[in-house]
Amino acid sequence: MIVNLILMGAPGAGKGTHAKDISRQFNIPHISTGDILREEVSKGTELGKTAKSYMDAGKLLPDDIIIKIIKGRLQKDDCKSGYLFDGFPRTLVQAEKLDIISSIESVIYLKCNDDILIKRLTGRRIADDGKIYNIYFDPPPEGIKTYQRDDDNEETIRERLKIFYSTFIPIMDFYKKLNIFQEIRGDDERAVVYEKILSILEDLKKG
Ligand code: AP5
Ligand code: MG
Repeated sequence: MIVNLILMGAPGAGKGTHAKDISRQFNIPHISTGDILREEVSKGTELGKTAKSYMDAGKLLPDDIIIKIIKGRLQKDDCKSGYLFDGFPRTLVQAEKLDIISSIESVIYLKCNDDILIKRLTGRRIADDGKIYNIYFDPPPEGIKTYQRDDDNEETIRERLKIFYSTFIPIMDFYKKLNIFQEIRGDDERAVVYEKILSILEDLKKG
């Protein structure tokens, strides 16, 4: 099954967590613009230097930079059998541009309340292999070295949430018009959320 998906949700909704599982189970690449930018930051590239100032402030990068990254990424061979976007598109312009270069079959929105999002983000810890933990909900095993993202402090988290809510509605409306938008609760237990995602993907398979 070739499937092109988007996992949407506010910061902390669980996009990265579930995207890793979907990617493994369906053998499609997980394309996270946030992860791509963080890699550029850690390599110290020009793009990384530009990205860092936006990311640390919780602001979105300009659309043209993001579109260029996505166009390049979609040309790689591993995208031939489908892909899963996490954290993209984030503006209506990005959604419209994506619609020209790709054909998305399903947009799954993980809806969560803000109190949970803030707790999840302040408690998030990431291991060197990229595995995502949480000191409250899924603590790292003893001996595993983890780090906190620079933008996971309360002030930046609040800015990220504000920006998410100010850009989300037009994107949702865009995908609702295309009849491919589905909303599920992202604040349930991880296994419950994943079951719901799988059931949407099963329906997609049946056509
Ligand atoms: P990005 O990296 O995309 O960050 P984000 O959208 O803020 O989302 P997060 O990664 O914080 O949350 P998530 O939904 O992945 O949650 P996770 O699964 O880790 O973007 C970062 C920055 O890059 C942006 O601010 C912007 O500057 C820039 N950028 C990126 N894309 C861009 C674009 N397209 N355009 C412009 N700029 C862009 O889960 C969070 C925590 O909760 C974890 O600890 C996890 O263990 C826990 N958890 C998850 N699900 C559950 C559950 N069901 N129960 C209990 N705990 C759970
Ligand atoms: Mg993420």
